[in-house]
Order: sequence, then C-alpha cells, then structure tokens
Amino acid sequence: MEEQPAMVRGNLNRLLEKVHEERGLDLRQFRRRYVERRIAVRLNHLGLNTYSQYSTFLDAHPEEYLKLLDALTINVTQFFRDPSVYKLVRDEVVPAVLKAKLDRRQRLVRVWSAGCATGEEPYSLAMAFLDGMLRSGAAETVLSVVGTDIDRDALAFAKRGEFPIRELAHIPHSDRIRYIEVHGDHFRFKPEIARAVRFQYLNLFADPPIHGIDVIFCRNVFIYFNRQDQERMIGAFRHSLVRGGFLVLGRSERLSTAMSRDFELVSVRERVYRKPMNLL
Ligand SMILES: C[S@@+](CC[C@H](N)C(=O)[O-])C[C@H]1O[C@@H](n2cnc3c(N)ncnc32)[C@H](O)[C@@H]1O
Repeated sequence: MEEQPAMVRGNLNRLLEKVHEERGLDLRQFRRRYVERRIAVRLNHLGLNTYSQYSTFLDAHPEEYLKLLDALTINVTQFFRDPSVYKLVRDEVVPAVLKAKLDRRQRLVRVWSAGCATGEEPYSLAMAFLDGMLRSGAAETVLSVVGTDIDRDALAFAKRGEFPIRELAHIPHSDRIRYIEVHGDHFRFKPEIARAVRFQYLNLFADPPIHGIDVIFCRNVFIYFNRQDQERMIGAFRHSLVRGGFLVLGRSERLSTAMSRDFELVSVRERVYRKPMNLL
C-alpha cells in the first residue's frame, strides 16, 4: 500500500505555474488529485508543510526538480505513445522523407530517438518506417534508427529488446504479425527490425549531437531542461537535421516563438516541425 501523505497547505496553482515556467513542464495536464498526492509525498519526505516552502526549496536545490519528476514517474514510455503522432508519421512524414531520398538519389534514412528510455519509441519508429517503405516499394532504402539516453539501465533493457507480452496491446495488429515473435510471456523483434535499431549513451546536455538525421523524435525530455538549455538543444537539433528533416516533440512541449523561427510548423497539435528546404 502506498503511504498516505499528510495534507499540504497553500496555493498549488502558483507552484504549478513556477514548474511550468522553469522547466516547461505543464503539470496541469495531469489529474489534479494525482499531482497533489505526488507532490505531497515529496513535501512529507522533506518535512515541509506548504507549497510556498516547497517553491523556495526548489530555488535553493534545483536538483529537486528531478526528484519531483521521478515522483511523477515521468520516465515512463510506451510503444506508439500518442497513436495520433504515429498516424501523422505514417501518413505524412515517412512519404515526405522517402520522396526526398528518391529526389536526392540517397538510400539511407536516419531516425534519432533522443531520450529513448527503454526503447519503445525507437522500435515503434522502426516499425512505422519499415511499414511505409514496404508500402511504397522503396526496396533500395536502408533504415537506421538510433536511440540515445543517459540512463544506462534503460539502455541495457532497450538493447536486450525483450518486452513483456502485455505491451503487445499498444502495437497495431498488422505490425505485430509482421515484425514480432512471441516467446512465452515476452516478445522480441524480428531481425529486420533488430538490425535497423541501435542504442548508444548520449547526454543531450554535454555530448555533441548526431548529424545527417532525417527525423528526430525528442519527446517528453524537455521537462528535464530549463528554457535556456531547451533553446540550446533545439539549435543543436537544427544542425543535426538534413534540409527538410522533421523534429517531433511531446504533447506538452512546444517551440517558443524564438525557437520556432527556424522551423516550419507541420502540425501544432502533434508538435511536428520541419527544417526548411533552404536552410543550411
Ligand atoms: C519520459 S522519458 C521519454 C521517453 C520517450 N521519448 C517517450 O516519450 O516515451 C525521458 C527520458 O529522457 C532521458 N533524459 C533525461 N535527461 C537527458 C539528457 N540530458 N540526455 C539524454 N537523455 C536524457 C531520461 O533518462 C528518460 O529516459
């Protein structure tokens, strides 16, 4: 049984606004009761009684933001998380990338899942792209998906590529049939997916970005960064992308006006942006 935290006094909205401003994380999207309970666990742990005390504590100990995010289990992920994004990827992004490859007489399609956690996102992208390539008869095209993260345990899990059977529920039926092998209470990917996906440690704060990328998925990672670092990261992604390359952010993340100047908006709802064809 989860411990029942004591009541917290004060103005929760003001604290939520602060977290949004400082970290770009909009906790108002979560269920109110859930956020109250999770924050109360942190306050009880720290021996604090009010939201304003916690706000002061966050200023003095910025590393507490990570503990707060952990308390909200923000490092969760899922196959085809937010299915409507993947619909847009299949309907618009994959065809546009394949057309650009054909026009440039290039064979290699490169996709980067930045902040991939346990790998569900890069494997989902591999299925969506290989499916699109099959449908459009792009037999010459070669797919390379790289998943990067700073969590070495998550990366080790992702590399093993063995997932509990209950996660199959998130994978469309046609992909299950085509790309997955079930072994008892877990499943693995067929070689054509496993061959296309690789994982590596990469700290988005400190390490140089990967270059020559056609599509970057960086979803639900911004929450770890303040505005300034987010802007730096978006600048790096702009250089990573080839001309006409796509950047996909998470549902509660968006480019600020300054950041969006260098991108075309593909879908405001799905947070899909595109590097203009004429930008170097
Ligand atoms: C919530 S998960 C997102 C997983 C996936 N992108 C999704 O949307 O389902 C956030 C991931 O970002 C990673 N992360 C946090 N800071 C990072 C950094 N500086 N460099 C790379 N990855 C980072 C965390 O380790 C975590 O696995």
